[in-house]
Amino acid sequence: MNPLVGIFDSGVGGLSVLKAIRLRLPQTPLVYVADQAHVPYGPRPVEDVRALACGIVRFLKRQGAGIIVVACNTASAAALHELRRLYPRLVFVGMEPAVKPAAIHTRSGVVGVLATQGTLRGKLYASVVERFAHGRRVMEDPCAGLVAEIEKGHLNGDRTRDILQRALAPMLASGADTIVLGCTHYPFVLPLIREIAGEGVQVIDPAPAIARRVAHLLAHHQAVKSAGVGALTLLTTGKPGLFQRMAGRFLESEVSCGTLAWRDMDLEFE
Ligand code: DGL
Repeated sequence: MNPLVGIFDSGVGGLSVLKAIRLRLPQTPLVYVADQAHVPYGPRPVEDVRALACGIVRFLKRQGAGIIVVACNTASAAALHELRRLYPRLVFVGMEPAVKPAAIHTRSGVVGVLATQGTLRGKLYASVVERFAHGRRVMEDPCAGLVAEIEKGHLNGDRTRDILQRALAPMLASGADTIVLGCTHYPFVLPLIREIAGEGVQVIDPAPAIARRVAHLLAHHQAVKSAGVGALTLLTTGKPGLFQRMAGRFLESEVSCGTLAWRDMDLEFE
């Protein structure tokens, strides 16, 4: 298996997963695609999200990726099954809202899930709740508009605060003591979520668990044992200047970014 790890999301959200992978496996070469030409994925029809995800995977495969991290809950819900069927030789790591650990950890028996509309209406989410949330009350909110605010870098703006307050208020009023971040964009507003939720509420970000999974898959690979830092390639289908600034801020380092364009549902370098 080629050790190059391909990671994608509709935008900057998957950088929360990339950051966790980079921390755990600094030597591993990574290529990240942000499909900012189509962000947000959450309100899009499932077929559209599936087609976009398939196009990105075709591109990452051409770049030589052996492992693909679908660092987007919405795309995982819409396309993971199809991607595994289409590309049996690639190894996929997908996201699903961390309802299982939340159901184990909660003491009040009430869990809140923040995820996009696309994730919450998908079969994957329904099956996770059915399998793991027995005897628990699970409350959901799609946080409409939050992904757009995060894409603009408004991590503490009035609108961001308002969306989160409205989403969390009924959960907290019902006694939720565990909140699941079911969208990879949301870890970037974790300080605000913590501030609103207050002490005693646990917030679950699945990114470290995804990084552990990737580390396990690459455990015997020479590339992860070598010295040095693996190449990091960041690409966007949107505006490279904005993405570069946001990525630098989120990853807390200087980064450069390339541009991709969609041509006949295939991604190519500009
Ligand atoms: N970051 C994504 C997720 O985890 C997608 C958000 C969106 O584009 O709506 O679902």
